Amino acid sequence: MQTATGDRLVDQLRGNQGDTSPAFRVDAARYRDDAWLARERATAFARPVPVLASSSLAPGACVPIDTPIASALLVRSPDNTVRAFRNACRHRGTRLVDAPQAARRAIVCPYHGWTYGLDGALVHAPHAAAFAPEPLHERSLHQLPVAEHHGLIWLNTRDPAGFLGDLDGDLAALDLASHAVHRTARTTRRCNWKLVVEAFLDGYHIRVLHRDSIYRFFLDAASAAERVGPHIRAVTGRRTLHDAGPTELRAIATPSLSIFPATTIIVHPDFVSLVTALPITPDTTDYQHTMLVPAARAGDTAHWDKSWSLIEDTVFQREDLWVCEQVQRGIAAGTDHLLFGALEHAVGWFHDELERAVATTS
Ligand code: FES
Repeated sequence: MQTATGDRLVDQLRGNQGDTSPAFRVDAARYRDDAWLARERATAFARPVPVLASSSLAPGACVPIDTPIASALLVRSPDNTVRAFRNACRHRGTRLVDAPQAARRAIVCPYHGWTYGLDGALVHAPHAAAFAPEPLHERSLHQLPVAEHHGLIWLNTRDPAGFLGDLDGDLAALDLASHAVHRTARTTRRCNWKLVVEAFLDGYHIRVLHRDSIYRFFLDAASAAERVGPHIRAVTGRRTLHDAGPTELRAIATPSLSIFPATTIIVHPDFVSLVTALPITPDTTDYQHTMLVPAARAGDTAHWDKSWSLIEDTVFQREDLWVCEQVQRGIAAGTDHLLFGALEHAVGWFHDELERAVATTS
């Protein structure tokens, strides 16, 4: 987070007079309706989306990424160029790569062996003469818009900076390009994707849901947030918030960036969590968490494993995602709306933005 921005939000936290934003409701149908999800996919998820840390894609690596609007194959050439292709063979459409692959010199279709270079060009088709008069040299992989920016790889765009607006400076300040991936978790959870986003926008639940895990580090219901275009930046006050003396932001508060619609970056004291929550169906979500650690300290495995165990295994999986599934079960049981109070007002901004995006379809 940019220094001046962090200072401003911390000042808000320290001088907190209590939030007076009005309570609001969200219709429970937003979490269980197929038609609504189709509109979310066509609008909010057509925007630029960060899908992978740059350090997850070494030269020669091929990584399949499935988003709500595309099945993409990310490839980094030996010259460091990142490309994205539709993950489908130009012969009969077979999915080309089903799991991350390292050190590839070509992409070979598992069905009949059509072979593509890392630039997407078709370089070999067994018995090519059998396809006459089709011009096989026109059968390169279909390219998708992609960009590498501030240590992340983005789909649906060639200009993430324009989409990020002022949040671009916050992302630059994190210097994610100098980070390495320690661990990645990917699971399917039985809840609507928005419930996961909401959990990361709400500091109200920490004292209760996380009482045995991380509440010992945080103040109760102490969050400050602001809108940055469609995005949200926030800080959550740690118990050291009111300590005297100059202190680094990450030592007294936990900053977070919510990149609309479904990406959350959480800045822990010495590492960064990149979390995405992509819809599969109205009540199932593809959750992914990548733990990014300073590359210079990547070898401190025992330390990072301990943090992973607390944050991913306990806080995210057993507490946040568990409770998201319990909300979904309550919605399935007949809840007609969800009620949010002043301490959850950032969730309202998220829903405002989503409603605005979805309104562009009929
Ligand atoms: Fe790929 Fe036939 S479908 S080679």
